[in-house]
Amino acid sequence: MTDIRIFDTTLRDGEQSPGASLNHAEKLEIARQLEALGVDVIEAGFPITSQGDFDAVSAIAHELTKPIVCGLARCVPRDIDRAGEAVKHAKQGRIHVFCATSKIHREHKLKKAFEQIIELSQHSVEQARGYVEDVEFSPEDGSRTELNYLVDITAAVIEAGATTINIPDTVGYSVPEEYGHIFAYVREQLPIIDEKGIYLSSHCHNDLGLAVANSLSAMQNGARQIECTINGIGERAGNAALEEIVMAMRTRADYYEKYNTNIDISKLYPTSRMVSTLTGLQVQRNKALVGQNAFAHESGIHQDGMLKNRNTYEIMDPQTIGVPESKLVLGKHSGRHALGDRIKQLGYTIDDDTLNRVYETFKALADKKKDVFDEDIEAMIDTTLENAAP
Ligand code: KIV
Ligand code: ZN
Repeated sequence: MTDIRIFDTTLRDGEQSPGASLNHAEKLEIARQLEALGVDVIEAGFPITSQGDFDAVSAIAHELTKPIVCGLARCVPRDIDRAGEAVKHAKQGRIHVFCATSKIHREHKLKKAFEQIIELSQHSVEQARGYVEDVEFSPEDGSRTELNYLVDITAAVIEAGATTINIPDTVGYSVPEEYGHIFAYVREQLPIIDEKGIYLSSHCHNDLGLAVANSLSAMQNGARQIECTINGIGERAGNAALEEIVMAMRTRADYYEKYNTNIDISKLYPTSRMVSTLTGLQVQRNKALVGQNAFAHESGIHQDGMLKNRNTYEIMDPQTIGVPESKLVLGKHSGRHALGDRIKQLGYTIDDDTLNRVYETFKALADKKKDVFDEDIEAMIDTTLENAAP
């Protein structure tokens, strides 16, 4: 079995989502929930960005005992000092240092040659090692960096003391085979990674909707840490969604049989609700696993199948991830079977003839109204029974 570290960056990359904002108490509440969920690493913030971020990282580092608590820093001495100060009380503290390496970032953003970037990155990792033993390094825009440069910088920062190397798909540009290949290649070129037990890590953005697929591909090619966020929140189109990665691995354990995480899946839905409420970022209705429609069935054929055997249209039991129940939504696509079932749940016993008449009224109403509620059904039954009374 390979244990996959789940590195949650909801409080850092996630909080960078346009529209999201969390106060100190809310960050702590989410961090406690992430600990209960079983994440291995919490990226609690970017301490140099504000006093508020510093205080939140520091408070989380003080309080949490199980996960590694991590603070982000650029390759800038005062960033690293601030991150080091913020995580210094953590039971297990980590500094995550990053520097862009792709051609476009080198030439247009940093205006530095690759050799300068290597040197800067090495110095920064060394500086971070002065605070903690656990240092992560990310070549930002790694997936668009020349492969030989990625290998060179990885070797250089390992030599300087980095213990985790994260290769981010910063702009969500990669596709699964290509992203997986980067990990296989770097590992093949640098046997020191496996010899020294260095963690390779994936960090995927969702600009093409491929963040989860890319993360799983990286894992199959040697990444032992996956960076992700609750509900997939994050810069632009967001990051890989934690719940989707974990449940893909769990639901398709036949396919991903070698891999294991420490996540308590029964807490996935409550955590999603908490993050949505506190950040103010609504979860889209059709979002996998945690969206309102994820376990809702409207069409008659699907509802009939569900009532006969739920495995016809559901690949997991929603209750295992903390969703209270599946819903058979009554609307114009619903059939007699689902309506009859709901009527029974509402406590009525009616004969087939009455059911047929209620069904006719139901269809007429559903054509005009998107959802038909229990109150509508009760009213329809009462009227049908009254009309039938001698
Ligand atoms: O997307 C990215 O490249 C990042 C880095 C800071 C790891 O968030
Ligand atoms: Zn990111």
